[in-house]
Amino acid sequence: MSIIELNNVYYKDKKNIVLDGVYLEINKGEAVSIVGESGSGKSTLLKICSDLIEVTSGKIKYNGKDYFSYEPENLRKNISYCIQMPYLFGKTIYDNLEFPFKIRNKEVDKKKISNLLKRFNLEEEWLNKNVESLSGGEKQRVAFIRNIMFTPDVLLLDEVTSALDSTNTKIIEDYVKELNDKGVTILWVTHNKKQSETIFNRRITISKGKVEKVEELN
Ligand SMILES: Nc1ncnc2c1ncn2[C@@H]1O[C@H](COP(=O)(O)OP(=O)(O)OP(=O)(O)O)[C@@H](O)[C@H]1O
Ligand SMILES: [Mg+2]
Repeated sequence: MSIIELNNVYYKDKKNIVLDGVYLEINKGEAVSIVGESGSGKSTLLKICSDLIEVTSGKIKYNGKDYFSYEPENLRKNISYCIQMPYLFGKTIYDNLEFPFKIRNKEVDKKKISNLLKRFNLEEEWLNKNVESLSGGEKQRVAFIRNIMFTPDVLLLDEVTSALDSTNTKIIEDYVKELNDKGVTILWVTHNKKQSETIFNRRITISKGKVEKVEELN
């Protein structure tokens, strides 16, 4: 059964056709990598899938129902999108990591936060550290933790390891693989060919706003 389905999706701004009639069916539990040249429309595709932007025309469905039929908050809790340029808000790491609890009206689970910080090679003592003082790779990991604090149904990742060394990249890949083994559907945009083959069952190539190629991987 398909969890996300795009049917002839277009996204246009004033001048450009950014997505040019995309057909895509992602099955529940899949891990799919998305590759393609810079500017081909990969991030736009993830923004459409995360309901951050709306299609200009065409249809997009989640669990067989049109995105329009869902409350936007519900879509965003189930479909988590790690954006390409990590955006941290507030002042501290803690401000970012308490956020997923706050929007769900849940008590902050400090143990969970500290376990995740450790898992991703970040110091627990840094919770009150100013986000502006973090390196690019540290910001990427804090943003990643914020996105997976509550396990989503679908996880959309946009070049989330671009600023990381190989050790930290592997930690993220292993974690995403674990999530996928638990049934989380993964869509991961990457420019790294080796990475696009690591944990995925399919690879999709986007070219000039269209799905150019779909490969089954094993
Ligand atoms: N809101 C927008 N307004 C105008 N142009 C846009 C908008 N969003 C995307 N574009 C343009 O659409 C094209 C696709 O952008 P997108 O960010 O999806 O590419 P990408 O495949 O993710 O590239 P990269 O690999 O560099 O991240 C680019 O030419 C971009 O400039
Ligand atoms: Mg992009």
